Amino acid sequence: MNRTHEVTPRVHLSHVSRTFSPASRGQPPFQALGDVSLELWPGEFVCLLGPSGCGKSTILNLIAGFDRPDAGVVSIDAKPVMQPGPDRGFVFQQPTLFPWLNVLDNVTFGPRMAGVPKAQYLDDAYRYLALVGLKGFEHHATWQLSGGMRQRAALARAWLPNPGILLMDEPFGALDAQTRLTMQELLTSVWAATGTTILFVTHDVDEALLLADRVLIMSARPGRIREHLHVPFERPRDIEDLADDPEFGRLRRHVLHIIRDEAHRHAGQELS
Ligand SMILES: Nc1ncnc2c1ncn2[C@@H]1O[C@H](COP(=O)(O)OP(=O)(O)OP(=O)(O)O)[C@@H](O)[C@H]1O
Ligand SMILES: [Mg+2]
Repeated sequence: MNRTHEVTPRVHLSHVSRTFSPASRGQPPFQALGDVSLELWPGEFVCLLGPSGCGKSTILNLIAGFDRPDAGVVSIDAKPVMQPGPDRGFVFQQPTLFPWLNVLDNVTFGPRMAGVPKAQYLDDAYRYLALVGLKGFEHHATWQLSGGMRQRAALARAWLPNPGILLMDEPFGALDAQTRLTMQELLTSVWAATGTTILFVTHDVDEALLLADRVLIMSARPGRIREHLHVPFERPRDIEDLADDPEFGRLRRHVLHIIRDEAHRHAGQELS
């Protein structure tokens, strides 16, 4: 990617900290993030890896505008984030569909609430539902879908407003290996076609190396970016080819080493 100094990052966190108030009196406040800086360049696919509790969801919530930093600045196209907006789509780990709405009404919820005329989104809604493999299920109730199908509906819903930025919090973590692979392929093909900027949280090193242009590895207490890793593999990528690539093995080993090191450091902190 050509990054001259004139290019503005799509998303920029500059020296961001976030400390949460204690749940009960007498306990100290908890610093979830300490001095986090990161940039997402237009059209980039970045994966965020790190131990549980290191602040990955906190970062996503700040970019989404659900939360505000105590110090530092979160900006999109050089403007500070003040609130959520349709320029940012969010996919949560658990599909959050309204149980009283059918699949199509769930997927079109955003534009319907915003008063967008039906003619402007209905064809796209059917198209995205077909793309995620839910053609024929448009009028099903959500309880008639499997967990994987619900997550695919949530993906179609996030995509429908055509957000420039997609924030994905372990979206495929609960899926079986086969569905996950299908979803990874679908995500990369739609990403390549739309040029969306994606920040994707995962615990799965192989998933990060398959999907990302860059992987950011976090450390915990407080959460910081420990390492920025460029993923050099050409696209389109194939997981089977990658598995045979010695460079993939080397990178995988490197990332696992850092994660293990973090886990040991963490265990040491808990014992001390
Ligand atoms: N609203 C909140 N109030 C108090 N503490 C919070 C709040 N949100 C997050 N935290 C704390 O901040 C830390 C980071 O939380 P966060 O959810 O960002 O972690 P994570 O990296 O996403 O973890 P996981 O991989 O388990 O999802 C945790 O210790 C969590 O308990
Ligand atoms: Mg989380």
